[in-house]
Amino acid sequence: MYGPPASLTAPTRARHWLDGTELGRDGILGLAHRALALRSGAQPRKVRGRLATVFFNPSLRTRASVELAAQAVGLHCVELVPGQGVWGFETRPGAVMDGTAAEHIADAVRVLAEMCDILAVRSFAGLTDPVEDRADRVLQAFVDHADRPIVSLESARWHPLQGLADTATWVSHLGGELRGRRLTLTWAPHPKALPTAVPNQVLLSAALQGMHVTVAHPEGFDLDPLVVSRATELAVQSGGSVQHSSDPDAAVEGASVVVAKSWSGWSGYGRREEEAKVRAGLGDWCMTEERMAKTSGAGLMHCLPIRRNVVATDAVLDGPHSWVHETAGLRMWTTMALLERLVEGW
Ligand code: CP
Repeated sequence: MYGPPASLTAPTRARHWLDGTELGRDGILGLAHRALALRSGAQPRKVRGRLATVFFNPSLRTRASVELAAQAVGLHCVELVPGQGVWGFETRPGAVMDGTAAEHIADAVRVLAEMCDILAVRSFAGLTDPVEDRADRVLQAFVDHADRPIVSLESARWHPLQGLADTATWVSHLGGELRGRRLTLTWAPHPKALPTAVPNQVLLSAALQGMHVTVAHPEGFDLDPLVVSRATELAVQSGGSVQHSSDPDAAVEGASVVVAKSWSGWSGYGRREEEAKVRAGLGDWCMTEERMAKTSGAGLMHCLPIRRNVVATDAVLDGPHSWVHETAGLRMWTTMALLERLVEGW
């Protein structure tokens, strides 16, 4: 019954999905349109093969959408959670494994690659060491040890499946030409320090489409300068721009899309307790109806899960300009579109 499709046995170097730019601006738009067609009733193309997902961190949307999308396109999906019925993994290269971890990630990945045609992994940032997080070591171990397409289910730096669903949402509401549209990515309050993969991805995905992006955040909550410079370069190439603001009201004026998200400051690595005290005094960055009224009728986006009445109010989240649940639904259709392409080749 099984056996990898011919396209999956071809060299896979260019076929990973790691930061969501792999197919370029037009390729991503093509996937977004395909996802919207699937949502409207188009039949998924049946491919065949086996997909393994490995979740080092919790998930609702990614877990459900990937499994359902895989089933829909004919991929058998096995889900593994290290440490929960699966051996705990050692992830440090060259480690002397005399601690609790029973299996090295290098061995686990090679074994899964022997069995499966596509491997997918979720591994968040540790938020203690910026060099470590930039290296994205767990994701990189999958790339290094498996001669198979690798799909990131959110890594320390990027969340490309979320970026694809975000792009499909923009296309759904704004039409196929996103170039020149105004998107504001605004920092939001939160009781915990959070990784930057989602805001990094919003910035990168919007820049790739040539949108005019304003990144708004309080002092000290800056994004990784390498991410910002890469996004700025992409935006300029595509006819867009990246600007910065520290005024949450001015930043949303004229925006067609507002993405609210909390994140930890790049310059706060190693100073999280200090950052927590500052964060506690920034409740007025919560997205309210009053602030949304300053936009050009913008849709409100958030990747979910969201802390209601901290990040955004109930009135905004349940109001007519909230796109958050639609985007979550599009996670399934966009993943279906991606898996079709990944198996057939690009
Ligand atoms: N947005 C998102 O990735 O949700 P989960 O963490 O629940 O998968």
